[in-house]
Amino acid sequence: MQVREREATNPATQPQAPVFVARGLTKVYGSGDAQVVALKDVNLDIRQGEFIVLLGPSGSGKSTLLNILGGLDAPTSGTATWRDHELTGAGDDELTTYRREHVGFVFQFYNLIPSLTVEENVRLVAQIASNPMRPAEALELVGLTHRAGHFPSQLSGGEQQRVAVARAIVKRPDILLCDEPTGALDVDTGRLVLAAIAKVNAELSTTTAVITHNSAIAGMADRVLRLSGGRIVKEEPNPKRIRAEDVTW
Ligand SMILES: Nc1ncnc2c1ncn2[C@@H]1O[C@H](COP(=O)(O)OP(=O)(O)OP(=O)(O)O)[C@@H](O)[C@H]1O
Ligand SMILES: [Mg+2]
Repeated sequence: MQVREREATNPATQPQAPVFVARGLTKVYGSGDAQVVALKDVNLDIRQGEFIVLLGPSGSGKSTLLNILGGLDAPTSGTATWRDHELTGAGDDELTTYRREHVGFVFQFYNLIPSLTVEENVRLVAQIASNPMRPAEALELVGLTHRAGHFPSQLSGGEQQRVAVARAIVKRPDILLCDEPTGALDVDTGRLVLAAIAKVNAELSTTTAVITHNSAIAGMADRVLRLSGGRIVKEEPNPKRIRAEDVTW
């Protein structure tokens, strides 16, 4: 199905109850003189299918917020809820299950397993998921069907990152969290990775959050959050989303 056809029915454009709710999120690392306040009283609602871009200077708390959202880290105080999952106060086992069943992560570095083919890297995650798509389907979504049998070392950085996107979405996650997914890529390959992320968001209605230092990418978002000093200092809806192909930097 064409992305553009689906955009008209993208739930992100419909008013809906939030699926992720954060209230008063505060994260303090360390203690005494070494104390760092990474997040300060952050309140955030995210709707099903929404595409969010997080901008802000280095150290402003972007990764900390994303990691709490994804159950990789716990706040010092405040609450974070994904649908009926209370993430704050959840034990390690519960958070592991939450991450495995509901969250897809893409980081700046692809972390593929070098001794496995592209298809096997994706299959590995499909095997531990409860309702995965076929690995071939995930690879088709990111435009890499023809590279399924290759090893990561035989692919360009952008292609490896698209494998990482396929691996993140093969389990049909509810939320796709991307921390500087194009940070190591040039413009053209970065666009292809962003196009793959936008396609997943449009076709599967996967709620998506992308951290970037590149404000041009904000044009792709439904909503842009700007962080500074551990706070969300600006929230801007973006009624005219642009395509990844039209992002320039
Ligand atoms: N594990 C940790 N221990 C101590 N301080 C930490 C830890 N993780 C993050 N911090 C601090 O918390 C603050 C927020 O960090 P965070 O990684 O969320 O920023 P960021 O906005 O993602 O920055 P960048 O753009 O550089 O990735 C920073 O001052 C950072 O040094
Ligand atoms: Mg970061």
